[in-house]
Amino acid sequence: MRLVLLGAPGSGKGTQAARLREHLQVPHISTGELLRAAVAAGTPLGVQAKSVMESGGLVSDDIVLGMLEERLLRPDAADGFILDGYPRNLVQARALDALLAKIRQPMDIAVQLDVAQDLLVSRLSGRAHVEGRADDSPEAVRKRLSVYEEQTAPVVDYYRNTGKLACLDGVGSVDEVFIRIVEAISPGKDVG
Ligand code: AP5
Repeated sequence: MRLVLLGAPGSGKGTQAARLREHLQVPHISTGELLRAAVAAGTPLGVQAKSVMESGGLVSDDIVLGMLEERLLRPDAADGFILDGYPRNLVQARALDALLAKIRQPMDIAVQLDVAQDLLVSRLSGRAHVEGRADDSPEAVRKRLSVYEEQTAPVVDYYRNTGKLACLDGVGSVDEVFIRIVEAISPGKDVG
């Protein structure tokens, strides 16, 4: 199964991807996690990405695509993957299609998690207190949400037009949302 998880910051992509990884037995590939690891390791890419990420902006398309391509070509992704945090704009959506065509691994389904903005803000401010992620400050969260509206929301329409989009309610317990996703991606389910 090759699955793309879409949704605003705080919509639960990472939380659900961790569960889906166990359920589907394919790797969870998060571009945010790959970038945070590069920042923590102080690689040249991480040094370039750090301030953009902390401000809540998007890292350059070229950097993220190169990193993603390298990750998708690792053997553990040969039988599928859960992609979280990519694509984030239409340029990335088209680049992903081209990359997946090149490696002959077409995407099966995109799942969009819908959560109202006030709940997103409350989840992220809750995480700021617990984990202290640099981009969960109120200013960075505001910026991330506006970047999402302007640049990432159009990606949802892009996938709707392919007939491979399932839009799901992301509100409820983690278990409830997980069950919705599993039902939506089950074989034979019409997602168009
Ligand atoms: P990234 O790491 O992708 O962050 P994000 O999209 O902002 O997503 P989050 O991790 O904040 O939220 P999530 O939807 O995964 O929710 P989560 O499960 O964590 O990207 C970070 C940055 O990296 C970007 O801003 C950008 O700078 C850069 N970047 C990454 N990809 C890029 C790309 N492709 N191009 C360019 N730049 C890129 O949940 C959030 C909280 O809510 C948690 O505390 C969780 O416990 C809680 N929660 C989850 N589900 C529920 C539930 N059902 N009920 C109650 N609480 C819940």
